[in-house]
Amino acid sequence: MQILHPKFILTPDKILSNHAVAFDSHIQAVGPKEALVRRFPDAALFEEPSALVLPGFANPHLHLEFSANKATLSYGDFIPWLYSVIEHREELLPRCDEKCMTKALRTLLICGTTAIGAVSSYGEDIEACAKSPLKVQLFNEIIGSNPAAADVMYASFLERFHRCKKRESDRFKAAVAVHSPYSVHYVLAKRAVEIAKRENALVSTHFMESRAEREWLDSGTGEFASFFKKLLGQTRPVNDPLEFLELFAEVQTLFVHMVWANEQELTKVASMQSTIVHCPISNRLLGNGVLDLDRIAPIPYTLATDGLSSNYTLNLYEELKAALFLHPNKEATDFAKELIVRSTKGGYEALGFAGGIIEEGMPADLQIVSIPEDLKEPKDIYLHLILHTQKPKAVYIQGVNHA
Ligand code: BEZ
Ligand code: FE2
Repeated sequence: MQILHPKFILTPDKILSNHAVAFDSHIQAVGPKEALVRRFPDAALFEEPSALVLPGFANPHLHLEFSANKATLSYGDFIPWLYSVIEHREELLPRCDEKCMTKALRTLLICGTTAIGAVSSYGEDIEACAKSPLKVQLFNEIIGSNPAAADVMYASFLERFHRCKKRESDRFKAAVAVHSPYSVHYVLAKRAVEIAKRENALVSTHFMESRAEREWLDSGTGEFASFFKKLLGQTRPVNDPLEFLELFAEVQTLFVHMVWANEQELTKVASMQSTIVHCPISNRLLGNGVLDLDRIAPIPYTLATDGLSSNYTLNLYEELKAALFLHPNKEATDFAKELIVRSTKGGYEALGFAGGIIEEGMPADLQIVSIPEDLKEPKDIYLHLILHTQKPKAVYIQGVNHA
């Protein structure tokens, strides 16, 4: 048993001062230090007078298999980026072996992330994730808009899903990703969602990331028209967006991006058990614009980095800084608190893991972070946490310090 006594505890909704947290693999008590020391006389006591404790972050959308990318892919504009992924993926994928993915997982961990949703396109990340101390939903992805290739694509998806299923544990779960409405044939998407239903698995899908996706799915026009004609000989989209959304009505789903979703689609998603995953840096770098957070209310949202295929970092503190600056209409101190709450409690909830809250009975997935010495107003702590943190001092998963 350990007792941590920081200057503040962010539960995350509340700021506790003069409190300590006692934990082994789980949080046993939160209360005044003296009471905890009396109750757990054998516990090791750690005084952290210039630090705060908050829950570990959840980063529910990333692509570990593309972690070798730094400057191979073309940023700036979505369709040229997609062409560059297709052109360079045969070179990029082998550049990230299990060691490279383990390194990416380690970066996530030492930067405060304790739970992730990793989209697995090829099954190459299963072992690294299964061995990692992080809590992982591994989203085995299905892709394929050509009906002639549907059986092959489905067989590949199913093989990876079952391989993943065999490695399941309390902290490693087999989940399902349907790549997107433009890239997955309706029948194929339906079959993958059926598996998720049967296996009670979490689902993730990219939805309305770009203007090109909006135009292609609405009217078969725009930049995707020549993309599909040239690459796949296709002249029509394979989904109606609302019918595609309807497929997810009975499963818990993470809808990633949603920048270009219309009112009808948002209303549909609001009626489902779903969360929007907001990736502001990826959206910025691929020229997809900024998600309107006022428009998506009351749908819950959480934040993610996306992969190194569309970001320069997997550090969620960078994503939170970007979110602050990319939503200038939001009052900064209130919005900072919202971002922290959504990235802890909200992200854990979206991933279906217990945690993200500092409360008795929850797993001890925690971060210790230094506080600026000159902080005057405790209520400003959320904003300064985001502005001044690159890396926490310590990161615990199930009570074990990994940083
Ligand atoms: C496909 O496999 O059909 C596909 C992949 C990427 C983008 C678009 C379509
Ligand atoms: Fe993504």
